[in-house]
Amino acid sequence: MKQVNRIIEHPAYKEALAEIAIREENRIFCRHDTDHFMNVARIAMILNLEEHRDVDKDLIYATALLHDIGRHIQYDDKTPHEIASAEIAEPILKDCGFRKKDIQQILQAILLHRSQKESKKHDLADVIYRADKLSRECYFCKAAEVCDWKKGKKNKELTY
Ligand SMILES: [Fe+2]
Ligand SMILES: [Fe+2]
Repeated sequence: MKQVNRIIEHPAYKEALAEIAIREENRIFCRHDTDHFMNVARIAMILNLEEHRDVDKDLIYATALLHDIGRHIQYDDKTPHEIASAEIAEPILKDCGFRKKDIQQILQAILLHRSQKESKKHDLADVIYRADKLSRECYFCKAAEVCDWKKGKKNKELTY
Protein backbone atom coordinates (compact mmCIF):
# COMPACT_ATOMS: atom_id res chain seq x y z
CA MET A 1 0.00 0.00 0.00
CA LYS A 2 3.07 2.28 -0.25
CA GLN A 3 2.01 3.90 -3.52
CA VAL A 4 -1.62 4.16 -2.36
CA ASN A 5 -0.51 6.07 0.72
CA ARG A 6 1.40 8.45 -1.53
CA ILE A 7 -1.88 9.32 -3.32
CA ILE A 8 -3.50 10.70 -0.18
CA GLU A 9 -0.44 12.85 0.47
CA HIS A 10 -0.18 14.16 -3.10
CA PRO A 11 -0.72 17.96 -3.35
CA ALA A 12 -2.89 17.68 -6.49
CA TYR A 13 -5.05 15.09 -4.74
CA LYS A 14 -5.50 17.26 -1.66
CA GLU A 15 -6.25 20.30 -3.80
CA ALA A 16 -8.95 18.50 -5.80
CA LEU A 17 -10.54 17.19 -2.58
CA ALA A 18 -10.70 20.73 -1.24
CA GLU A 19 -12.25 22.02 -4.48
CA ILE A 20 -14.95 19.33 -4.36
CA ALA A 21 -15.68 20.07 -0.69
CA ILE A 22 -16.23 23.78 -1.45
CA ARG A 23 -18.76 22.98 -4.18
CA GLU A 24 -20.55 20.34 -2.10
CA GLU A 25 -20.75 22.34 1.11
CA ASN A 26 -24.52 22.71 0.87
CA ARG A 27 -25.23 19.57 -1.14
CA ILE A 28 -28.12 17.56 0.32
CA PHE A 29 -27.42 14.52 -1.88
CA CYS A 30 -24.53 12.04 -1.75
CA ARG A 31 -21.16 13.74 -1.46
CA HIS A 32 -17.91 12.85 -3.17
CA ASP A 33 -15.63 12.96 -0.17
CA THR A 34 -13.12 10.68 1.52
CA ASP A 35 -15.93 8.81 3.33
CA HIS A 36 -17.37 7.88 -0.04
CA PHE A 37 -13.98 6.89 -1.45
CA MET A 38 -13.19 4.65 1.52
CA ASN A 39 -16.64 3.04 1.43
CA VAL A 40 -16.12 2.26 -2.25
CA ALA A 41 -12.63 0.84 -1.58
CA ARG A 42 -13.78 -1.42 1.23
CA ILE A 43 -16.97 -2.67 -0.44
CA ALA A 44 -14.99 -3.35 -3.63
CA MET A 45 -12.54 -5.38 -1.49
CA ILE A 46 -15.42 -7.36 0.04
CA LEU A 47 -16.78 -8.14 -3.45
CA ASN A 48 -13.27 -9.05 -4.61
CA LEU A 49 -12.77 -11.50 -1.75
CA GLU A 50 -16.30 -12.95 -1.74
CA GLU A 51 -16.22 -13.56 -5.46
CA HIS A 52 -12.57 -14.71 -5.59
CA ARG A 53 -11.75 -12.16 -8.27
CA ASP A 54 -8.12 -11.86 -7.25
CA VAL A 55 -7.92 -8.15 -8.12
CA ASP A 56 -4.87 -6.47 -6.56
CA LYS A 57 -5.76 -4.59 -3.36
CA ASP A 58 -3.59 -1.59 -4.26
CA LEU A 59 -5.40 -1.20 -7.58
CA ILE A 60 -8.78 -1.28 -5.85
CA TYR A 61 -7.79 1.37 -3.28
CA ALA A 62 -6.10 3.60 -5.87
CA THR A 63 -9.15 3.48 -8.15
CA ALA A 64 -11.60 4.09 -5.30
CA LEU A 65 -9.59 7.06 -4.03
CA LEU A 66 -9.43 8.63 -7.48
CA HIS A 67 -12.66 7.66 -9.28
CA ASP A 68 -14.52 10.91 -8.42
CA ILE A 69 -11.54 13.22 -7.97
CA GLY A 70 -12.61 15.40 -10.92
CA ARG A 71 -16.14 16.00 -9.60
CA HIS A 72 -15.52 19.75 -9.15
CA ILE A 73 -14.74 20.09 -12.87
CA GLN A 74 -18.16 18.63 -13.69
CA TYR A 75 -19.80 21.19 -11.40
CA ASP A 76 -17.88 23.98 -13.13
CA ASP A 77 -18.09 23.16 -16.83
CA LYS A 78 -20.16 19.96 -17.12
CA THR A 79 -17.21 17.79 -18.23
CA PRO A 80 -18.28 14.23 -17.31
CA HIS A 81 -16.43 13.55 -14.07
CA GLU A 82 -15.11 10.14 -15.12
CA ILE A 83 -13.11 11.97 -17.80
CA ALA A 84 -12.01 14.80 -15.50
CA SER A 85 -11.08 12.28 -12.80
CA ALA A 86 -8.93 10.20 -15.17
CA GLU A 87 -7.13 13.36 -16.32
CA ILE A 88 -6.33 14.39 -12.75
CA ALA A 89 -5.46 10.82 -11.72
CA GLU A 90 -2.89 10.05 -14.41
CA PRO A 91 -0.06 12.38 -13.30
CA ILE A 92 -0.78 11.57 -9.63
CA LEU A 93 -0.42 7.84 -10.30
CA LYS A 94 2.84 8.44 -12.17
CA ASP A 95 4.22 10.57 -9.33
CA CYS A 96 3.23 7.91 -6.80
CA GLY A 97 5.26 5.23 -8.59
CA PHE A 98 2.56 3.00 -10.07
CA ARG A 99 3.64 0.82 -12.99
CA LYS A 100 2.49 1.75 -16.50
CA LYS A 101 0.35 -1.38 -16.80
CA ASP A 102 -1.36 -0.68 -13.47
CA ILE A 103 -1.97 2.97 -14.36
CA GLN A 104 -3.74 1.85 -17.54
CA GLN A 105 -6.02 -0.49 -15.58
CA ILE A 106 -6.83 2.13 -12.94
CA LEU A 107 -7.60 4.80 -15.56
CA GLN A 108 -9.80 2.36 -17.46
CA ALA A 109 -11.77 1.56 -14.28
CA ILE A 110 -12.17 5.29 -13.50
CA LEU A 111 -13.41 5.96 -17.05
CA LEU A 112 -15.90 3.07 -16.84
CA HIS A 113 -17.19 3.72 -13.33
CA ARG A 114 -20.51 5.09 -14.64
CA SER A 115 -21.09 2.40 -17.25
CA GLN A 116 -22.73 -0.78 -16.00
CA LYS A 117 -22.42 -2.51 -19.35
CA GLU A 118 -18.76 -1.68 -20.08
CA SER A 119 -17.50 -2.09 -16.51
CA LYS A 120 -18.77 -5.69 -16.46
CA LYS A 121 -16.05 -6.68 -18.92
CA HIS A 122 -13.15 -6.00 -16.53
CA ASP A 123 -12.78 -7.29 -12.96
CA LEU A 124 -11.38 -4.07 -11.45
CA ALA A 125 -13.92 -1.84 -13.21
CA ASP A 126 -16.75 -4.19 -12.26
CA VAL A 127 -16.06 -4.31 -8.51
CA ILE A 128 -15.59 -0.52 -8.45
CA TYR A 129 -18.80 0.15 -10.41
CA ARG A 130 -20.84 -2.04 -8.09
CA ALA A 131 -19.17 -0.81 -4.89
CA ASP A 132 -19.81 2.79 -5.97
CA LYS A 133 -23.55 2.10 -6.18
CA LEU A 134 -23.73 -0.20 -3.12
CA SER A 135 -21.93 2.40 -0.99
CA ARG A 136 -24.84 4.83 -1.14
CA GLU A 137 -27.00 4.68 1.97
CA CYS A 138 -30.38 5.54 0.40
CA TYR A 139 -32.14 3.79 3.30
CA PHE A 140 -30.83 6.53 5.66
CA CYS A 141 -31.04 9.42 3.23
CA LYS A 142 -33.18 12.45 4.07
CA ALA A 143 -33.04 13.61 0.44
CA ALA A 144 -34.26 10.30 -1.04
CA GLU A 145 -37.59 11.84 -2.10
CA VAL A 146 -35.93 14.48 -4.25
CA CYS A 147 -32.95 12.44 -5.46
CA ASP A 148 -32.85 11.90 -9.23
CA TRP A 149 -31.49 8.34 -9.00
CA LYS A 150 -34.07 6.05 -10.58
CA LYS A 151 -36.07 4.01 -8.05
CA GLY A 152 -34.51 0.71 -9.12
CA LYS A 153 -31.01 2.09 -8.66
CA LYS A 154 -31.53 3.20 -5.04
CA ASN A 155 -30.36 0.95 -2.23
CA LYS A 156 -33.54 0.21 -0.34
CA GLU A 157 -31.83 -2.17 2.03
CA LEU A 158 -28.45 -2.70 3.56
CA THR A 159 -26.18 -5.14 1.69
CA TYR A 160 -22.61 -4.24 2.80
FE1 LIG B 1 -18.70 9.04 -9.89
FE1 LIG C 1 -18.43 7.54 -6.61
